[in-house]
Amino acid sequence: MAVLLPGGAGFIGSHTAVELLNSGKEIIILDNFSNSKPNVLDAIKKITGKEFKFYEMDYLNRDGLEKVFQENKIEAVMNFAGYKAVGESVKKPIEYYTNNISGALVLLDVMKKYNCKKFIFSSSATVYGEPEKIPLTEDCKTGGTTNPYGTTKLFIEQILKDIYASDSTWDICILRYFNPVGAHESGLIGEEPQGIPNNLMPYIVRVAKGELKELSVFGDDYNTPDGTGVRDYIHVVDLAKGHVLALDKLDKEQKGLYIYNLGTGTGYSVLDMVKAFEKATGKKVPYKIAPRRDGDIAICYAEPTKAKKELGWEATKTLEDMCLDAWNYIK
Ligand code: UFG
Repeated sequence: MAVLLPGGAGFIGSHTAVELLNSGKEIIILDNFSNSKPNVLDAIKKITGKEFKFYEMDYLNRDGLEKVFQENKIEAVMNFAGYKAVGESVKKPIEYYTNNISGALVLLDVMKKYNCKKFIFSSSATVYGEPEKIPLTEDCKTGGTTNPYGTTKLFIEQILKDIYASDSTWDICILRYFNPVGAHESGLIGEEPQGIPNNLMPYIVRVAKGELKELSVFGDDYNTPDGTGVRDYIHVVDLAKGHVLALDKLDKEQKGLYIYNLGTGTGYSVLDMVKAFEKATGKKVPYKIAPRRDGDIAICYAEPTKAKKELGWEATKTLEDMCLDAWNYIK
């Protein structure tokens, strides 16, 4: 029995593929390389010393997907094929709603047809919108997303709740990621945003490398200790391990729909991140203060104890690990 990973060649998918293989699971990756590269597949094999099946295709291709289910025994699906760039989603809402929502619907419908009802969904802290309280617990109100990307995550969560309400033989786990950063310690897989990065850590890394002149710190007048935005940065390998434990839970426990925050529980400001990166790598990161970025919130970090209690999951990597591994990958 295999775990199917649409989008398994991407940033979070590839790290999760490694952790699943290391835990003895069989996996199948399906990817159209729209935001990843084929050499990632070799890197996964090199890190783990294990083989897996791969299909090059779009997960919206229903016939292709059916063929994958006919040719293999698939026990569970983890969906990493969603588009994830906030700014791009504002410019391309149709593409985002189509890829993320229609894609998820095709996938879930094919799963149902082949009686595969274990699904782990990559959601995001963005579903909380403007946080009701900090730290965020899983029962905090959701909604009020400020961009189409976030809204696709919110809608898919609702779709999953409705599916489970209609048929309680599904096993569903919604994982709300906070801010994934870093890379595998081998330096063989990591994050490769196309063009100029939107997210903080990839931007810092490019500035340190000299490819970009300076970081723009978006706002220093937030109600935070140093005035800059505070987030819960989590090492991608910790995040990947959360998926393995989520699958274990679905394997062992009663059927259900579970929701977990995957964050460290600690918030760091933009300037904390710059200082931590400089300290860990010895590289300078020149920056300037710029106006606030539209749609940003001041503070967002998780209360991660539910995942610790119910999954036995806890982030173990430090901020230094996140900085060093991100730097090591891009170097
Ligand atoms: N920031 C800068 N300069 C930059 C980039 C970012 O100052 O060049 C700041 C932002 O203003 C924010 C912090 O760094 O305060 C983090 O920004 P990111 O863009 O790295 O991350 P976000 O918190 O905005 O968004 C991330 C993911 C989303 C996800 C969200 C969930 O990119 O996919 O976390 O909280 F939805």
